[in-house]
Amino acid sequence: MTQYQSFPGVKGASESLAKLKALRLPSFQGKRFLDVGCNEGYFCGYARFDGAAEVIGIDRSKLAVSRAQARMPDCRFLVQSWEQLPDGKFDVILLASALHYADDQEALIHRLMDSLSDDGTLVLEMGIAPSGKSEWISVKRSIDERLFPSRGKLAEILQDYAWKIIGYSVQQAGDPLTRYVVHVRRQKPCVFLLLEPPGSGKTTLCRTLFARAKVPVVSGDLTYRQLSDGRITASEALKSLICADFSPQYDKVAEKVFSQGLAGDLVEVWCRQGGESEFVIDSYVPERYQQDVKDAFDARGYIPVVLNWEMQKSMSGPGDADKKASRYMETLVDSRVGEAVGMGFRVTRVNSPALGEFFSGWHLDQPVNGQIVTEHDQFTLSGWGLPRDMDAKAVRCYVRSAGVKQVFKLEKRRDDVVKLRLKDQVEVPETLSYCGFAFSGLKKSDLVSGIEFGFIANGQEIPAAQLGITEPVSGKATLSRKLLSKVGATLRRRR
Ligand SMILES: C[S@@+](CC[C@H](N)C(=O)[O-])C[C@H]1O[C@@H](n2cnc3c(N)ncnc32)[C@H](O)[C@@H]1O
Repeated sequence: MTQYQSFPGVKGASESLAKLKALRLPSFQGKRFLDVGCNEGYFCGYARFDGAAEVIGIDRSKLAVSRAQARMPDCRFLVQSWEQLPDGKFDVILLASALHYADDQEALIHRLMDSLSDDGTLVLEMGIAPSGKSEWISVKRSIDERLFPSRGKLAEILQDYAWKIIGYSVQQAGDPLTRYVVHVRRQKPCVFLLLEPPGSGKTTLCRTLFARAKVPVVSGDLTYRQLSDGRITASEALKSLICADFSPQYDKVAEKVFSQGLAGDLVEVWCRQGGESEFVIDSYVPERYQQDVKDAFDARGYIPVVLNWEMQKSMSGPGDADKKASRYMETLVDSRVGEAVGMGFRVTRVNSPALGEFFSGWHLDQPVNGQIVTEHDQFTLSGWGLPRDMDAKAVRCYVRSAGVKQVFKLEKRRDDVVKLRLKDQVEVPETLSYCGFAFSGLKKSDLVSGIEFGFIANGQEIPAAQLGITEPVSGKATLSRKLLSKVGATLRRRR
């Protein structure tokens, strides 16, 4: 046997170090490695050096194997043809400068792929014949004549795998063909993950690019909806979390699901919807949980491809929007808005027992307490009153300002009030629909001395509210208190 591999002080026909560099082998840490046609074990030694957990080299040459075992006592060498491969799966398999010796090269490649672990890599180092066709070409070499595949033939053989020509290998003296290094892996379906926040254009990308490419899309929002109304199944934990207080604010639903550590449960549902091959996930996943989603897809045999892009978002993030709104309210409370814009209305309801006696309800819609009194001199007083036993038309309203009393009717149709307040009443007299009032004969200047507003029922005046004006300075305080009591307090409680 002529010396093939090169070691320090021993120069073989092959420049083994240059070949090792060209092979671009993956990391061997903790892996199981098989070298097919290992010769004197140069690459087996390297795998061990790089931390492989187990290294096996096979070669049909007894002499080569005995030399290999002498050089690399840490590795296992077998005098064995590649017709029969050692048991078990390997993370990395190497077939270097040997494929052309196989009687059935195509069958050998498939056999090697069958011995590869799910995430394993087959490294082929081989000559490729120049031809535009998919064919085997017989090539005369100095020592013999062998069949080599064209690039098209290689593509045909590898069509069911993921593969890549990594680059050139080292040429040997007298080589009639160019040698290449090819990495082959099991083909796994990709899942394209569009996880950006709402409003960043995920759905548009699905409707355009992915729809055209006929890649099925799984919508996260739709999945949440279907889970909420029981149209699809999921783990108990995921189902009950989504069904509890479901609202179609999907970014908040997402936060809830992922913060409870249910990424795996959701990915399982998505995989069922996406099918066996590649698909797209169109669903917001907060950045800090994206790795969980990728890991869950990886564990299910997918290659997760996360797509990120820069785009002006059409809306702010869910938490951000809430926090910013609360902060804005606080600045309104603290600011001098009231002072800047002027005076405000002061509306005080009068607690008169006769009101309850004659009316099932009443309301002053306009003006409201704290409302800014603007430049316009005139303002309107409007609202409604629902008399208990009387015809609404028999009831009047009055305003009194500086001793002058003005009377007006309840004559505005207020179906909204009747619908809301009298919804349990079977028959509502038509006249009660006219329970609204609107009176525009009041001036801003009337507010200074104060205005009394009330109803007249059965000839009796029933005061209902006092209207006045706040001072500019207290206007700020009134406005602030009003805002706080309506919204700010709620927001503060939530924080
Ligand atoms: C050109 S050498 C390549 C050695 C090594 N792979 C390298 O690149 O340095 C080819 C090797 O394949 C081995 N070989 C040829 N036919 C084989 C077979 N059917 N089964 C196992 N090994 C074989 C030879 O004995 C020889 O060691």
